[in-house]
Amino acid sequence: MKVYRAIADLDLDRTKSIALVPTMGAFHEGHLHLMREARKLANLVVVSLFVNPTQFRAGEDFEKYPRDEAGDFELADSVGVDAMFAPSVEEVYPAKTTKVHVGGLSESWEGAHRPGHFDGVATVVAKLFNICRPDFAVFGWKDFQQCRVIQSMVEGLNFPVALHFEPTVREADGLALSSRNRYLSSQERVVAPLLYATLCRVASDVRGASDEGEVSRFIDAGRRELTAAGFVLDYFEMVDSATLDAVRSVESWNRLIVAGRLGSTRLIDNISLFEHAE
Ligand code: PAJ
Repeated sequence: MKVYRAIADLDLDRTKSIALVPTMGAFHEGHLHLMREARKLANLVVVSLFVNPTQFRAGEDFEKYPRDEAGDFELADSVGVDAMFAPSVEEVYPAKTTKVHVGGLSESWEGAHRPGHFDGVATVVAKLFNICRPDFAVFGWKDFQQCRVIQSMVEGLNFPVALHFEPTVREADGLALSSRNRYLSSQERVVAPLLYATLCRVASDVRGASDEGEVSRFIDAGRRELTAAGFVLDYFEMVDSATLDAVRSVESWNRLIVAGRLGSTRLIDNISLFEHAE
């Protein structure tokens, strides 16, 4: 596996099809799954490892975001990644004067609780697409709104890249893998799987609801249950996956989304309304 630090050094073989997996490192099975899927899509798999400062706000965990470059390189190599692009902040941002804003989808939910976050994400992903010029790019549904924002950016700016989205990789007890899970205390780690369990239960209840009032009551019950267990929720909602507007209808394209803090750790998760429906 080749490691590149500088944009000018990137000598990717452009006779091959290229799949890019953008990451911020601290690899877990979720990241490795995306890399394995990328391996199936193209002849050359490129992983970017860049903890992007512009998507963190002051007071968020940019400084203490877990970093283990040597360990990450080893893991990426073990799943057949061909090239790792791991630039410095100065290499990516000689200036921070240009940014990409994806109107509409960036404003709600994560965007409302982390103002400017999706501008940082869209800007760095646009730069990575232009730097690596991949044929394919692979992202995880774990960050559902991020997927939708990037999709909208690719359509809006005509990036010549095919996007692939992969389902969330979970622990055996349902907790979505995340580099932030390591911050959970052992007590919080016991409570954390309730996030996914509640999403699944509310989805099942909503599928059987007889009217929109009942849908609202099931969603409220989910919120109450998580709050009682110790989560401080930013949101727990059902949204139309195209518009991200809150909805109360029972449609296959709806998604339940949640974000909340358990102690000092912020967790997010989401499922399709019909994810486990028979
Ligand atoms: P990061 O959090 O490192 O995630 C990199 C990719 O892994 C994203 O597409 C994310 O959705 C996916 N991922 C994370 N946890 C997952 C899981 N449990 N199962 C499946 N996929 C999972 O997301 C980012 O980095 C950044 O915002 C980035 C897109 C790289 C821009 O800086």
